[in-house]
Parts: sequence; structure tokens; C-alpha cells
Amino acid sequence: MKVADVWQQFEKKLSQQKSLEDLEVLRIEFLGRKGRINQLLQKITQLPPEKRKEFGQEVNQLKRKIEAAIESKKQELKVELENNLSKEKLDVTLPGQEPNLGHLHPITQMKWEIADIFQRMGFEVLEPVLEVNTDYANFGALNIPPDHPARDMWDTFWTREGYIPITHTSSMQNWIYRNRKPPIRAVIIGRIFRHEATDASHEHTFYQIEGVYVDKNVTVANLIETMRVFFSEFYGRQLRAKIRPSYFPFVEPGLELAIECVLCNQKGCPVCKHSGWLEILGCGQIHPFVLKEGGIDPKKYTGFAWGMGLDRMVMLRYMIEDVRHFHSGDLRFIRKF
Ligand code: DAH
Repeated sequence: MKVADVWQQFEKKLSQQKSLEDLEVLRIEFLGRKGRINQLLQKITQLPPEKRKEFGQEVNQLKRKIEAAIESKKQELKVELENNLSKEKLDVTLPGQEPNLGHLHPITQMKWEIADIFQRMGFEVLEPVLEVNTDYANFGALNIPPDHPARDMWDTFWTREGYIPITHTSSMQNWIYRNRKPPIRAVIIGRIFRHEATDASHEHTFYQIEGVYVDKNVTVANLIETMRVFFSEFYGRQLRAKIRPSYFPFVEPGLELAIECVLCNQKGCPVCKHSGWLEILGCGQIHPFVLKEGGIDPKKYTGFAWGMGLDRMVMLRYMIEDVRHFHSGDLRFIRKF
């Protein structure tokens, strides 16, 4: 093997090196302890003495040449590596891209927001324990016996066995009275069902928020103020509220509560039918019969209850004209929120 051949082989291999790791492997192949250079040097003993000096010098020269070539290739690869790294550099301070993971339905968003306000006001927030419940829970315990004409107020679905997909969240009142002790402050947010032909303002499935407050000496004044505080929190400004008489079998007196129209500030608009007021919920002083059915002594305790539609509140906030959007599953609608 001639010295010149070793150089040629080295040069060829060197030009193929793409990384610092590969270059190191090549260095060991030629300059390592058992490398090509040392192999050459070992051959020196086979030469006649007068040629040894010259051969030794030649091999040493080759060694230095290879060392220099490897060093310069190393620098070249380092620069290349740094260039590549700076091209791929991540700026971790850049704002992230929002992943398209979907989001909560507007009704769920509002449900959580309302639950949050009532919790801050000291109310416990629950969901209906049953969505299909007994006639007693939905009607009987609420002072609506089987033959009572007020049953017509709710278009009711029945199962063959006589159970009811709850027509209102008032179906939870009896459970609350039975499972809590006064003072009771509870809000129930849940889905309800009506045997109803659907149109822009009627759905067979929607959401209600029921609230009850039972303690000693609770009056309608407490009811009005509680509602006024809630709506002021919800709309972020002080609102006026007013009541007028209404009828629900489970409250006496039964009332309807209105808040000032949040859309026109009482100037008059189509949503409030130019009255300046939005009728927003049914409420009243809990009927003694209902407290008694719940195991609470109406001579010792009084309370108020209210029920309002969650869908209506979402519609008012976003000026949605048709309730049917909520359950349509239409992504063009959902993506707007
Ligand atoms: N449950 C009634 C409904 O669905 C709403 C309601 C009215 C609830 C008056 C109440 C109340 O608690 O006191 O129409």
C-alpha cells in the first residue's frame, strides 16, 4: 500500500462526511491507535534500513495533512450545524396558535356563569336528581293534585308507567326540602321537557333555573331584592325590578317579576313590546302546603321560590331570534359563541 493511495482514499471518504459524529468515526479509522496511519508505520520494519527514514517522513507528513483536513472539515460542519439550528430556532415568547378544540355551548356557558353568581350569593347549585320523575315530584308535592286544572299549564309527556320527563325544575323542590334543613338556599339548573309543537319561541326541550330560599321571616321583599341583585350582577349594572300578581299553585302569593329592558334602557323596543320591562320569571312565597309536604313546618318557616328560562336569557343576551337553533346541532350557529 502506497502512502499516496491512503491519502486518496481518505480524501474521498472525507468529502462524504455529513456530520460531526461521522467525521469522528473517520478520524479514528485513519488516526486512531489501530488506524491506517499506524498500520503504515508498522510496515517500516519490512523496508531496507536506508529507505526507512524517507518512508517515515512521508507517513508523518500524511498524518499531519489528514489532521489538518479533518480539523478544517470539522469547522465547516460546525458552521453548517449552527446555521441550520438558527433557522429552526423556536421563539418561545411568541403567542400560541389557538387550537381548534371546539368550545362550550352558549347554554352551558351561561349555566356556569349563572351558577357562579348564585354561589357567590350563598346558594348551593344542583342539577335535577332525576330527569324522569314521579307525578308526585312534578305535580303532587307542588300542590297540584291529579284533577287540578292547573295541570294544563304544562304540556306534559308521560311514560307508559306513569312517570314524567320533568316539565319544570320545580320538580326538585320536594327533594330539596326533604334533604336539607333550613336555612335553605338552593338553585337547580336543569333540562326540562314539554309536549309542545315547536316554533321560534317554543321547544320541547329547554332549560330552567329554579331557586328556593327557606328561613325564618322570609318575605317577598327578600325575594325582590335577591332577584334584583342577581340580575344586576348578571348584566353588570344596577337594574330596576318590579312584580305583579300571577298564579302558580305552589306559591301564595304568586308573582311575575320583570326587570327593566336591558336592550333599550326602557325607551321601548320590539323585544319588550315597547313596555320598557322584560317579564323574566315566575316566583312567589312558597305555599304552606308545599313546605308541609317537604317536612318543613310552615308556622315556623317561610320562603320564596322562583323559576326562569335559561334559553330566554341567552336569546336576550345575543339577540337570537329562534330557540330551535340551540338544539339544531348546526355548527355555523355554535361557532358564533
Ligand atoms: N315552574 C314554573 C314553570 O315552569 C315556574 C315557576 C313559577 C317556578 C313560580 C317557581 C315559582 O318556583 O315560584 O312555569
